[in-house]
Amino acid sequence: MATADFLPPFMFLLLFSTFRVTLSANSPNITTDQSALLALKSHITHDPHNLLATNWSTSTSVCSWIGVTCGTRHHRVIALDFSSMDLTGTIPSQLGNLSFLASLNIRNNSFHGSLPSELTNLHRLRHLNFGNNSFNGEMPSWFSYFTRLESLYLYMNNFSGVIPSSLGNLSKLEQLVLYDNHFKGQLPINIGNLSNLEWLCLDNNSFSGHLPSGIFDNLSKLQILDLRHNKISGRIPNSISRCKELTFLSLYDNSLEGSIPKEIGNLTMLECLLIGYNNLSGSVPCSIFNISFLQQISVGGNNLVAYLSSNMFDYLPQLYYLDLGRCQLSGRIPISLFKCKSLNVLYLDHNYLEGNVPLEISNLTSLQEFSIGQNNLSGHIPSSICNLNSLKLLFLYENSVDGEIPKCIGNMTFLSHIDLEKNNFHGKIPENFGKGCMFQSFRINNNQIEGSLPRSLGNCKGLKLLDVGNNYLNDIFSDWLENLDQLQVLILRSNMFFGQVNTSEITVSFTRLRVIDISHNNFSGYLPMNFFKKLHAIKEGYKKKDQPEYMMDVSADATWSYLFSLSFTTKGLELEFRKLLTIWTAIDFSNNQFSGEIPETLGELHSLIVLNLSHNCLTGPIPSSLGDLSELESLDLSSNELHGRIPTELNNLGFLEVLNLSHNHLKGPIPQGKQFDTFTNDSYLGNLDLCGLPLSKGCNNGAETPAKLDRDDDDDDDDEINWKFSILMGYGCGLVLGLSMGYIVFTTGKPWWFIKIYERTRQRIAIR
Ligand SMILES: *[C@@H]1O[C@H](CO)[C@@H](O)[C@H](O)[C@H]1NC(C)=O
Ligand SMILES: *[C@@H]1O[C@H](CO)[C@@H](O)[C@H](O)[C@H]1NC(C)=O
Ligand SMILES: *[C@@H]1O[C@H](CO)[C@@H](O)[C@H](O)[C@H]1NC(C)=O
Ligand SMILES: *[C@@H]1O[C@H](CO)[C@@H](O)[C@H](O)[C@H]1NC(C)=O
Ligand SMILES: *[C@@H]1O[C@H](CO)[C@@H](O)[C@H](O)[C@H]1NC(C)=O
Ligand SMILES: *[C@@H]1O[C@H](CO)[C@@H](O)[C@H](O)[C@H]1NC(C)=O
Ligand SMILES: *[C@@H]1O[C@H](CO)[C@@H](O)[C@H](O)[C@H]1NC(C)=O
Ligand SMILES: *[C@@H]1O[C@H](CO)[C@@H](O)[C@H](O)[C@H]1NC(C)=O
Ligand SMILES: *[C@@H]1O[C@H](CO)[C@@H](O)[C@H](O)[C@H]1NC(C)=O
Ligand SMILES: *[C@@H]1O[C@H](CO)[C@@H](O)[C@H](O)[C@H]1NC(C)=O
Ligand SMILES: *[C@@H]1O[C@H](CO)[C@@H](O)[C@H](O)[C@H]1NC(C)=O
Ligand SMILES: *[C@@H]1O[C@H](CO)[C@@H](O)[C@H](O)[C@H]1NC(C)=O
Repeated sequence: MATADFLPPFMFLLLFSTFRVTLSANSPNITTDQSALLALKSHITHDPHNLLATNWSTSTSVCSWIGVTCGTRHHRVIALDFSSMDLTGTIPSQLGNLSFLASLNIRNNSFHGSLPSELTNLHRLRHLNFGNNSFNGEMPSWFSYFTRLESLYLYMNNFSGVIPSSLGNLSKLEQLVLYDNHFKGQLPINIGNLSNLEWLCLDNNSFSGHLPSGIFDNLSKLQILDLRHNKISGRIPNSISRCKELTFLSLYDNSLEGSIPKEIGNLTMLECLLIGYNNLSGSVPCSIFNISFLQQISVGGNNLVAYLSSNMFDYLPQLYYLDLGRCQLSGRIPISLFKCKSLNVLYLDHNYLEGNVPLEISNLTSLQEFSIGQNNLSGHIPSSICNLNSLKLLFLYENSVDGEIPKCIGNMTFLSHIDLEKNNFHGKIPENFGKGCMFQSFRINNNQIEGSLPRSLGNCKGLKLLDVGNNYLNDIFSDWLENLDQLQVLILRSNMFFGQVNTSEITVSFTRLRVIDISHNNFSGYLPMNFFKKLHAIKEGYKKKDQPEYMMDVSADATWSYLFSLSFTTKGLELEFRKLLTIWTAIDFSNNQFSGEIPETLGELHSLIVLNLSHNCLTGPIPSSLGDLSELESLDLSSNELHGRIPTELNNLGFLEVLNLSHNHLKGPIPQGKQFDTFTNDSYLGNLDLCGLPLSKGCNNGAETPAKLDRDDDDDDDDEINWKFSILMGYGCGLVLGLSMGYIVFTTGKPWWFIKIYERTRQRIAIR
């Protein structure tokens, strides 16, 4: 300023105006914005609806471009909204030049890559939505420079790493929505500085560690806290009671322990309280039943104790979701529960409830999901249950309910999942499944059901799981099953099914079938080649998909994992899958009267994990093609009439944990090396002409070479003798079966192998 004093006034003006020109020449204007957006356009690699191609033309003003909004005052771009435009591309660094940008919404596209640090210049940003794209990498710590940010949505991406503690600097932040990513680590205590926060949605990530005890101290405006599906451990901080505005609180499916803070009962605005599936213990504070807005309660799946009192459900007129599963409930179900007319979902499973199945259940006419599995209920299912027009799920498994299955259930329009297993139901399966039948899973195993499988079940086109095992069903394997082209799991074990497993030439049936257990019946005839040919799910398997998944019902609201749970039994061991992997494949035809040879085509079932053909009357050699079953973990061909040598190709089965070839007429050397070094004598018992390790009988070296062409160079006489022998044996199979049952127990007393298989299959998921 000292120099200016000496300058004549006109010089001063000149200087000033020059300065002004220079200032505007260097400062960004709408042209800067245009080039930033053109840079963005050039980073779009796929624009299937041609939204930008012609519209974003330099012959029109940027401000009229689709998705662009300009401010009136400075004539600069203030908002970009490209949501749901099906665009694929990356974010260019030039976007950081949109220095007036206040709102950036590119939700629901396929943007990918990482975020350029030039975005730090967007210091006016108030709303940022990158949800449902494919962004990678960590959340940048420079997000903390967006000091005016009010909402940050990064949900449904592939973000990873920890949340930077600097995020706690965003003092204006109201919504932080990060669900469905791969974030991990502990929640930084600094989140507790976000005193304006209303929504904190971090569900379905891999957050771990404890919740810092003071984290809720200043979050008095919090309305939604969603941390479900993470790995958070430790206690629920008492400070949660500071969040008086909370309407939605979900800590569901973590590893939280300790007791539920009593103060939760002070959260009087609460509509949803979902703390199920943790390791919480102690009692469920009865104060929560006083919160009159409460609509959803899930406390099941912990080690909690809840006490029932006769009028406890009287404060809760709006209740529509109640999960008190695994809460050690005892006594009878309080009648006051049936006053909650809005109940849609009622889970009381895994308790000690007694008395009859309550008749009043039929009064809850909006009921959609009802599970009372694993209790001590008796009585029968009232036929008035069919008045529940919206019922989708009915689980009564593991009780002592008897009587017949109400005939009218076939008329229930929306019923999709029924599980009555392990009760005392008798009589027949209802006949009247209508054309629009919605069943996805149908489980009645372990009852005393007789008669045949109703043909009308073929109307349930969406059926994925059919388990009628361990009953007294007396039927053939009939064609209508082939109509069920969604069927993935078929369990007919331990009934009185008979006849041949004939299937038509239709090639489009059974394509999804991957778990088949028809063991312990009276099926006979040859092994069904046509049937095996159709099993595309096992032929092509999960290799086609990059991620093995759990079998789920996407339409169910519930986070139920065991909609498709399954008890699968082989070799006398029952294995319960609470979640069934879509990669689990098994064929169990054991303990029937199947005869003839094992078809070569079985070798095409490349994804097969368990194959059990034991205790039949199978003859001929073991096909060398079985060596192509590269995923196989358990192979049981025991107690048949197989002869010839053990094909050396079986040594290709790198995952094989269990091999049982005992009680056949196999001969020659046992293949050596690899998996074969892990099997013991038990695998070969009762084959008098086998030699080599692990048997003590050595091979006559030179004379006995493991031969691939075993069948061809075997002399025909030998073949014929075995063949005649097996015909003789054919009628006597029942007897042989009875005798060999003892061996099963003897040889497989240890469940370790099945546990190993299950663990390994799980690991395949973890590896993804
Ligand atoms: C924007 O600035 C550039 C120089 O950076 C200038 O050439 C242009 O005329 C300005 N445009 C407008 C609309 O002011
Ligand atoms: C671009 O799209 C916007 C919004 O749909 C429309 O108003 C504008 O006229 C379009 N411009 C051109 C050149 O097509
Ligand atoms: C996401 O975008 C697709 C089109 O790309 C659209 O069909 C879908 O409805 C959108 N989803 C949401 C939730 O906006
Ligand atoms: C915009 O951003 C790019 C890259 O960040 C930079 O090179 C350029 O100079 C910036 N300014 C203008 C006016 O485009
Ligand atoms: C996410 O993106 C997929 C694929 O574009 C779309 O089908 C789905 O509707 C989107 N979901 C949400 C919640 O935006
Ligand atoms: C997700 O990110 C991880 C690295 O964090 C990367 O290995 C993986 O390929 C990404 N997945 C997708 C689908 O982009
Ligand atoms: C942001 O927070 C960190 C601590 O988490 C602090 O060290 C840093 O100075 C803060 N930055 C700003 C710009 O406030
Ligand atoms: C969890 O997020 C992953 C992606 O990170 C997604 O594939 C999966 O469907 C989500 N699961 C649930 C239960 O929302
Ligand atoms: C932010 O959180 C940290 C840790 O709780 C605390 O030390 C700091 O004082 C807080 N800062 C502000 C501005 O609230
Ligand atoms: C919580 O509610 C109880 C009554 O249920 C009351 O005695 C107590 O003072 C309340 N605590 C707080 C922190 O509001
Ligand atoms: C249930 O409904 C029946 C009539 O359908 C009625 O007589 C009975 O009182 C109702 N019970 C309850 C507990 O509402
Ligand atoms: C099922 O519905 C049909 C027609 O809607 C009816 O004729 C039949 O009686 C019903 N059966 C039962 C058992 O309710």
